[in-house]
This record gives sequence, C-alpha cells and structure tokens, in this order.
Amino acid sequence: AMVEKQGFKHFMLKEIHEQPGVVRTSLDAYFNPAESTESPINLGLPADLYTDLEQIQIVACGTSWHAALIGKYLIEQLAGISTQVHYASEYRYAPSPVTANTLIIGVTQSGETADTLAALAMEKERRQGKEPKYQARLLGITNRPESSLGHLVPHIISTLAGIEISVAGTKTFTAQLMAFYALALDLAARRQTVSKEILEKIINGLRQIPKEIEATLESQERLTEHLAHEFAETQDFIFIGRGINFPIALEGALKLKEISYIHAEGYPAGEMKHGPIALLDAKVPVVAIAIPGSVYEKVISNAQEAKARDSRLIGVTPVNDGEAAEIFNDLLPVSHVEELLSPILTVVPLQLLAYHIAARRGLDVDQPRNLAKSVTVE
Ligand code: G6P
Repeated sequence: AMVEKQGFKHFMLKEIHEQPGVVRTSLDAYFNPAESTESPINLGLPADLYTDLEQIQIVACGTSWHAALIGKYLIEQLAGISTQVHYASEYRYAPSPVTANTLIIGVTQSGETADTLAALAMEKERRQGKEPKYQARLLGITNRPESSLGHLVPHIISTLAGIEISVAGTKTFTAQLMAFYALALDLAARRQTVSKEILEKIINGLRQIPKEIEATLESQERLTEHLAHEFAETQDFIFIGRGINFPIALEGALKLKEISYIHAEGYPAGEMKHGPIALLDAKVPVVAIAIPGSVYEKVISNAQEAKARDSRLIGVTPVNDGEAAEIFNDLLPVSHVEELLSPILTVVPLQLLAYHIAARRGLDVDQPRNLAKSVTVE
C-alpha cells in the first residue's frame, strides 16, 4: 500500500509520531504477557546461537551503529558478555582476530547497506572450515527481513517499525533499540545474570515507555519548534551525554547534520575537557542529556563547565528537576524514567529539534542533499 503523510508536513515528522506505536508493537512481539509461564522474552532464536557465548561483535553504519552502541551497553551491563561495535566499513579491512564462541551481529535497517553486508560476508567466509567453536554464528537485526541481509544470515530479529520513507531514520532507530533490549534481556535471562525480579522490573518499565513517548511528543512539539526558531542560523552545535546516553548525543548530532546541514558533534560529556571545550563560546549551544542515575551529577557538572564558557545550555532532563532546571537556559523535558530505559525517550526531543530546525530553514527534510536511504555501494 502507498504510504501517505496523513496530514503531517513531512514523512519524518509522521515517523517521529509513530514511535509509541512502534514500541507497543515491539513489546507485543518480543515479550510474552506478564501472566505467561514461559520465558518472558520470545525472539524465536535457537538456543545453540547462545551456547557458551564468550564474545559479541557488532557491525553497522550510521544510525544503526548508534543503536548498536546502546546494544553493547545493554548486553555488557545486563548479560556480562564482552561486546565490540565496529563501523562495517572499517571492520571489513581490519577485522578482530577470529575468536571462539563469538556471535556476530549485523544491524541494518534496510538490510541492503553494502559495507555491512560485506563485513558479514567476510566474517562468514573466513570462519568456513574451522573447527565448530570458531564457526560463524551470524545474526541480523533489520527492518527488512526479505532483504539481502535476510539471504546472507541464518537468523534475524525483525524490527517492527513499518516502512520508513524519510532518509533520516527515527522510528527504525527506536525499533532497533527495542530489539536490543529484548536481546540483552534474553541473554541475561538465559545466563541468569539478573534476577527474575529485576528482569520483570525492566520489562514493566519498557511497557510504560509508549505513553511516556506520547507525553514527550505532546509537550515537545511546541518547545522544539520555538527553539528551532532561535537556532535556525546557528552554525555549530555540541551534544553531550554519558553512559547509555552517550550514543544518543551522537544520534542527536547526526540527525541535525543530516537534515539541517548544521555542523554538530556528539561527545561523551567527560571527554569535552580533553579538547572540544576549546570550541565553546556564546555562539555554540550545548545540548546536554542529563538523566538521574549513575552519571547524572557528572553530566550536570560537565554542562556547568560549558556554561562557564558562555555556551547556551539546553537540557534534555526530567521535568520538575529543580537542580537541572536552574542551570539550563532551555529545557527539553522528558518524563522521569529509569536510566537504563531512558535512550528511547531522550532521543525523541533531539529528533524533533533537528526536524524543526531543518523545516525552519526551508530544507527538503525527507530528502536531504547527498544522502540516500540506503547506500548499496561500498
Ligand atoms: C544511510 C542512511 C542512514 C543510515 C545508514 C545505514 O547512510 O542515510 O540514515 O543510518 O545508511 O543504513 P542501514 O539501512 O544499514 O541501517
């Protein structure tokens, strides 16, 4: 069926607004009902994919690479499996040594990205004929299970975003995050690295996310539009975050670059002092993702350091947080949410900010210059 804009000015805005539904669909598909007696997670993957797993290597590009970084955080922190994330274009020519009992995951929305396919094909080939523990265990995460990726790897986690038209990925990113939550929790459940109670608590938390995104969308639409008005002529932006929200800083910066053509950098907040802080002055706004949890005070203090260099500070932080509200010049408030689940929420205002700045600048939001939805050449 033809995909329509349904009253939205651009596909990107429509797709941003589809995210609560994407999360709901993913929850229904990946998790069994709370009252079920089976394992709470259901990805339909064979047990031998997980047997004696010692290591995970993930290859991806662009927005999928950012989702993979969050996947690494979740897998390492919840399931305790050492995980590396590679740019597919780099991995192909400088692969990690062939290790035993290693799961290789390719993440590609389209399932057609040449770099990602080539990295996976290389991995498959170089492991052929080796003893069993070195054999390739390949898993794909894609929104297009019928794609070339689907033919290349034996196992797939389908992301459930529906067709995405806008070149800049939004709902497919959220769908990839949901796949990684399910995978990390599945690994953790099987390896018993988290208790049943914690597992349930995380899954219940995930079940609250759709309505939290709805609330965020409702409150942010006008705020981001208003801010976009003020930043339409800005030339540089810095996004900072730490821990599980560092990849969201990268993703916020990438969205802005892709569709508004404004120079933007995402940085781990604690690294700013080792160089990038020299860039800051009144002309360079800093967007800080500050969610209460393991790195909250650190991010606030890194944000204060930026403010001391005259940067205008925009905070993606929970509503009604007194301390945060005071240091930020502008707030993009999100609901109170567990740090572990926060990326699905914190990315939303950054998508909207990029969208509204690009729209304000009169740019072709859905078809940005020089970019393609999927890059099928290396
Ligand atoms: C292109 C798109 C990006 C996307 C990247 C990876 O560069 O413009 O938005 O993140 O490819 O795409 P994939 O389909 O492999 O996730």
